[in-house]
Amino acid sequence: EQIKIFTPATIANVSCGFDVLGLALDTVGDEMIIKKVAKKGVTITKIIGQNLPLETHKNVAGVAALALLSETNCEFGFEIEIIKNIKPGSGIGSSAASSAGAVWAINEILGKPFNTTDLVRFAMEGERLATGVPHADNVAPALFGGFTLVRSYQPLDIISIHTPNELFATVIHPQIEVKTSDAREILKTTVSLKDAIKQWGNVGGLISGLYTEDYDLIGRSLEDYIIEPIRSILIPAFDTVKQQSLKAGALGCGISGSGPSIFALSKGEETAKKVADAMKMVYEKVGIDYDIHVSKIN
Ligand code: HSE
Repeated sequence: EQIKIFTPATIANVSCGFDVLGLALDTVGDEMIIKKVAKKGVTITKIIGQNLPLETHKNVAGVAALALLSETNCEFGFEIEIIKNIKPGSGIGSSAASSAGAVWAINEILGKPFNTTDLVRFAMEGERLATGVPHADNVAPALFGGFTLVRSYQPLDIISIHTPNELFATVIHPQIEVKTSDAREILKTTVSLKDAIKQWGNVGGLISGLYTEDYDLIGRSLEDYIIEPIRSILIPAFDTVKQQSLKAGALGCGISGSGPSIFALSKGEETAKKVADAMKMVYEKVGIDYDIHVSKIN
């Protein structure tokens, strides 16, 4: 028995929601083939597209799968093959896609003994291996789809958030790698009350805007006063890309996860494509290589 799955790229933080908000991209992601085999345990047989460790304990998919299997009495094992389209260190949840995909597929083959929040908990072990911190804001949307909120880490409480139908994401990836662990190390550990007030106003506004499909409110809420001012210095031409995206009609623009990818949200695919053109133009002018995607959020 084997299954082949698509496992999506994700945008974590979504400007105002550091470590709690995330969204899944409909058409950008990896493929994985998961096979039930007689030999117990987990074997990573092949990774196509990227040079990543095959040893189960060093591979995020392997570690996440083992976390799941440790809570079963499974008398057989699994082989995993990964067709990796998402570049590691790009800021669109490369490790999360592998971790989430592995546990989702194994749960299917086992007849769904675990609920989606359990799967998030297992996939977080992959994130712990990749970044040192088991953050859930990429694996949660990868598993639930659409927008998700990590309301609480302890106990783990994931809320699936209504996602407006016309919301599209544009993501540009300047061809540099930023390790999430490095991008976390430079952050301050305290927040001023003044900034916190602005930030939680935006989190509430964004959630309300998503439910009421109020695109203006979504746009007004996509601002980050805490993380972006610090991390944006790691990203080439961040301010110009943001400025040009907004000018092209984006509702909002910010750092995707820990970067270096930059994302923008737009109402409608046509606007999202115009935003893509505006982003491209900035990088072409300054001579920075890039990948770019436009995707529905789903
Ligand atoms: N919330 C995490 C961070 C996401 O910003 O460090 C990493 O993809």
